[in-house]
Order: sequence, then structure tokens, then C-alpha cells
Amino acid sequence: MNIDKTRVLLTGATGGIGQAIAERLAAEGAALLLTGRRASELERLARVLRERGATIAIVPADLTVAADRAELCAVAAQWQGGVNVVIHNAGLNVSGLFDTLADAEIDDIVAANISAPMQLTRALLPDLRAQPNALMLFMGSGFGALGYPGFAAYSATKFALRGFAEALRREYADTTVKVALLSPRAVDTALNDDRVRSLQTAMRMKVDPPTRIADAVVAMIRRPCAERSIGWPERFFLRVNRLAPSMVDGSLRKHLPTIRSRLTPATADPIRGDS
Ligand SMILES: NC(=O)c1ccc[n+]([C@@H]2O[C@H](COP(=O)([O-])OP(=O)(O)OC[C@H]3O[C@@H](n4cnc5c(N)ncnc54)[C@H](OP(=O)(O)O)[C@@H]3O)[C@@H](O)[C@H]2O)c1
Repeated sequence: MNIDKTRVLLTGATGGIGQAIAERLAAEGAALLLTGRRASELERLARVLRERGATIAIVPADLTVAADRAELCAVAAQWQGGVNVVIHNAGLNVSGLFDTLADAEIDDIVAANISAPMQLTRALLPDLRAQPNALMLFMGSGFGALGYPGFAAYSATKFALRGFAEALRREYADTTVKVALLSPRAVDTALNDDRVRSLQTAMRMKVDPPTRIADAVVAMIRRPCAERSIGWPERFFLRVNRLAPSMVDGSLRKHLPTIRSRLTPATADPIRGDS
């Protein structure tokens, strides 16, 4: 697709990756309908991008709330003749040993990372299908193809999102709507708290700047492909995990003491793991 002909609905526009995507797409001439929960941050971003000449609309919305989604979809259907690209980028992370998570943390991450994009997709699809050329792009994660200790809830939602995108891609293969999944490795944003950053350092994980993800999004809009994972050797590990998961089990088992020590809150009881 020609980026300067796109009218893009971008969720999670107030976050680290979302802002980088918005800036990159605006610079390429896309018209942007930006959404996030923090209205003041959306307004600030819109002001900056409009000063650079971009066409921007904003709709503050909590995507786990049905009324907010309905309002967003109504705008998306009308704005500039209707959006033709949707980037499902909003998401939450919850890390820590699984038995230390609170009920609400599990409910919230499932609601934000999988229920909300599914509901939004269903509501947007009829209008997208009326467009001569349309794209749904989902923001996955490397942890959506390799379950990682300390991130069980997050991994579960990103595996689910990957399955959803794959099925949807096949279901709408003979329509004008293309479906794609982009899976970054670790990215330097506020999604990762200090414990996760400390783990990234201890495990020598590569951490990308958000602009790298924005570049990949632009490339995928220009030439849509079904799935893309960012980073080497991460792509190699994902392949090993698919073909010989027990090898990855063995390798990660050796790192469990490091993972536990980094992800256990300082005040937690090391035996019971509660804080
Ligand atoms: N950072 C990483 O290491 C990494 C790696 C792989 C994949 N990803 C994925 O990349 C995407 C963006 O993450 P990020 O790193 O940019 O995180 P971030 O800086 O924390 O931003 C998250 C964004 O999601 C929005 N959001 C969260 N819950 C929402 C809800 N209920 N309703 C509406 N919006 C909601 C936030 O809105 P408000 O801020 O306005 O509340 C914010 O705009 C996520 O899907 C994440 O899983 C991130």
C-alpha cells in the first residue's frame, strides 16, 4: 500500500512503540486516527504531529470498555472516508512468578491484550471489507511464540493473538482485507518495569529502540506479509522452540534462579512469593 494513501487507526498511540509508529507514519504522509487511554498525552502528540503538517484525529478510549470501542469504531467508519489500516498495538505486560499474580492482573491482561483486539476487529471488519484495499496489523511479541518463565500470562495472551491473526488471515484470504502480525523482541519502553529491565540485562537480551518497530510497521504496510519477527538470534530461537522445544526447556531451566531473583519483588517472601 502507498503510505500516503492510508488512513490509519493506531491503538496504543500514547505508548513508547505507538508514538514512534505515529511519528514515522505521519512523516510518510499517512492520515492518523490515534487512540489511547491518556487524553492529555494524545492531545500533546496530535499537536506535535499537526505542527509538522500531518492529518490527525484523536479518540481517547479504554479498549476494554464496550462503549469506548463503539465510539472509536463510529469515528473510524466515517473519518476521511473510513480507515483502511488498523494497527492493534495497545497492550499490557504483567511479569512475575505466576502464583504471585493477583486475580485482577490476569483479568486485565487478557482483557487488554486479547479480548479488546478481538472485539475491535469484529466491529471494524464490515467497514474495512468495504475498502478496496485494507490491512489489519497486530502487534505480537517474541513471547507469543516462545513461552518465557516469569511472563506466563503475557505469553498466553500473545500466543492467543498470534493464533487469532493466523485464523483471521486465512478466513479473509479471498477478501480485500490482509491480516499481518509483527512480533518484536524486547523494546525500550515503559511496558518493561525495573525488574524486567534488570532481567533483560542479566540475560543479555537485545533491546531495540521503538523506532526499529516503527520502521518494520512501515515496511509491512508497504508490502504486507503474513508474519514478521524482529531480531536475530531471536528468530533462530523461535525456530528451535518450534522444532525442539525440550532444548529450550533445558536452556531456560538453567536460568530459572536468575529469572526468579530478578522478577521476585524485593519485599516478597522468597518461599511463598507474595509481596
Ligand atoms: N516493549 C516491549 O518490550 C515489547 C516487546 C514486544 C511487543 N510489545 C508490544 O508492543 C505493544 C506496545 O507496547 P509498548 O512497549 O509501546 O508499551 P507502552 O509504552 O506501555 O504502551 C502501551 C500502550 O497501550 C495502551 N493501552 C494499554 N491498555 C489499554 C487499554 N485498556 N485501552 C486502551 N489502550 C491501552 C496504553 O495507553 P495509555 O498509556 O494511554 O494508558 C499505551 O498507549 C504492546 O502490544 C506490547 O505487548 C512490546
